[in-house]
Amino acid sequence: MEKKIIIANWKMNPQNAEEALRIVKGIAGQRFSNNVELVIAPPFIYLDLIKKNCGKEIKLAAQNAGWAERGAYTGEISSLMLKNLSCDYVIIGHSERRYKMGETEEMINLKIKAVFKTGLTPILAVGEKGQNDDIIEALTRQVKSALEGSGASEIGRLIVAYEPVWAIGTGLSDTSDHALSAALLIRKIVGNLYGSDWAKDLPVLYGGSVSGDNARDFIGQNGINGALVGGASLELDNFIKIIKAAGTNE
Ligand code: PGA
Repeated sequence: MEKKIIIANWKMNPQNAEEALRIVKGIAGQRFSNNVELVIAPPFIYLDLIKKNCGKEIKLAAQNAGWAERGAYTGEISSLMLKNLSCDYVIIGHSERRYKMGETEEMINLKIKAVFKTGLTPILAVGEKGQNDDIIEALTRQVKSALEGSGASEIGRLIVAYEPVWAIGTGLSDTSDHALSAALLIRKIVGNLYGSDWAKDLPVLYGGSVSGDNARDFIGQNGINGALVGGASLELDNFIKIIKAAGTNE
């Protein structure tokens, strides 16, 4: 059975290293099913600390990466730097970066290419903004523009997170049926671009107000390969419940 991927997106939290350490030690101290790929995406400055304290089972993700490898890009962190820090994954195109930090689809495309080039795995976040938006238009545009110029062999490393923007941080999660149909749509879009063989193996996660109480509804679906968890990933008990829910799919 395919592993379920659970990613803790800490966003711009917590405010100090002691708290980061407390959370990661709390997670690392648990025994989880080996059916779960557990990934923590802390702010950049805690990556090294987390790496040293999370044990081999937990993988690291960055929440963003610059598109250039090195040079005059004040404030940026490159994929190569992240790789050298033993990061395996990078979240690209999170809606908070798109809509609060003004990231364009062109920037996201460059970042995805940089992550692929470095050999890391991009977690491409896509999703419609409003609940009544045209989801086919939004997902087609976001997926196509992000992947333009990337080859089929690279797509074999891609993960996509379906995150309807209206469900992020609102406590108003999507329904599992709708999330599943969005995941199928994403595979169809990727299939049209690269062929159905690549699309059928593409891991698609759901993100948006996932909690210990609803995680199983999403992760339990055959076509949903895991969850990208924001707020609840900072609450130890809540997050442990989510990871356990993913493990019960064995
Ligand atoms: P949320 O965030 O779980 O707090 O809704 C998810 C995300 O932004 O990835």
